Amino acid sequence: MNDPLILGLESSCDDTAAAVLRGRQILSSVVMGQAELHAAFGGVVPEIAARAHAEKLDLAIEQALADAGVTLRDIDAVAVTAGPGLIGGVLSGVMMAKGLAAGLGKPLIGVNHLAGHALTPRLTDGLAFPYLMLLVSGGHCQFLIVRGPQEFTRLGGTIDDAPGEAFDKTARLLGLPQPGGPSVEQAALCGDEKRFRFPRPLLDRPGCDLSFSGLKTALLRMRDQIVADQGGLYEQDRADLSAGFQAAVRDVLAEKTRRALALYLADAPEAPAIAIAGGVAANTAIRGALQAICDERGVRFTAPPLALCTDNAAMIAYAGGELLALGELSDMALTARPRWPLDRNAAPLLGSGKKGAKA
Ligand code: KG4
Ligand code: ZN
Repeated sequence: MNDPLILGLESSCDDTAAAVLRGRQILSSVVMGQAELHAAFGGVVPEIAARAHAEKLDLAIEQALADAGVTLRDIDAVAVTAGPGLIGGVLSGVMMAKGLAAGLGKPLIGVNHLAGHALTPRLTDGLAFPYLMLLVSGGHCQFLIVRGPQEFTRLGGTIDDAPGEAFDKTARLLGLPQPGGPSVEQAALCGDEKRFRFPRPLLDRPGCDLSFSGLKTALLRMRDQIVADQGGLYEQDRADLSAGFQAAVRDVLAEKTRRALALYLADAPEAPAIAIAGGVAANTAIRGALQAICDERGVRFTAPPLALCTDNAAMIAYAGGELLALGELSDMALTARPRWPLDRNAAPLLGSGKKGAKA
């Protein structure tokens, strides 16, 4: 029998997305960004995002159905991000999904956005449970052991900024374009990572928690010192500061990954694997460091293609399919949850990125 045809919707931050999947086959995946709407404000404005989602969701759905060559009537179930994220955006998606499911008389599945990211390596590479996931994006940073579609153990995470957020702030402080990750990475290519001594936050403490806000403060001080000494920043200063900052993030993520890996391997998983997801997974230096750790320990390393690392609806449809197979359906009481931790037993997060609990 064919796998069910699932329509997935995602609207938890600043991307309006719809996708149609059959099992692990992505028939279509449409992502409509909103960057230009928020550009003037230096960050995502929740009210503007919510309005844009409400306007664009039906267009994204139409496009996803057309690209997949199916009609609404062919859809077997509707999966939607029900949190965590910006409440107005999540609500837009949940209301749309409820309307569709009720109108079609088909099952509705509320999906945790973070579970969507965390299950993506199963969609792209068919990874078996349990695997270790490092989720690193503009809004999130955490180590998870993914044991099942609804079973996650959180080993640690950021206590303040998310790494993508730190890259974005670094770019702003150095006058480099947004998003900061790619422009800092580009500038770092010609830089000397040893010229400035950046701290390696929290390495002196046991465990897998991370902190990135101190790096930004260190960078600010170094930048101001250079400006005071020579009246401005030269190209080489920007490159060296970018390289020093990136090296600090890389080293901290690498060391904490070693610790998370030790905890994960203590369970003696049959086919040990690490997967990385989120926008920061695009960073070549960070990927390289994690790949080296995996090679050292004989562990499989996977990084989904970038389009599936960043926010998209294919991951929501896929996660919805896993829940559907378990009979874990939602009903018309489904609500938008701005906060929704994956690991119900983990201590509450001190911080989940200052942009909010998104990933
Ligand atoms: O997962 P994502 O697309 O969005 C959410 O945060 O939901 O991640 C975006 C973040 C931005 O902060 C961006 O600067 C960062 O990922 N990023 C990178 C790179 N490409 C994107 N950070 C470091 N290096 C990169 N090459
Ligand atoms: Zn995300």
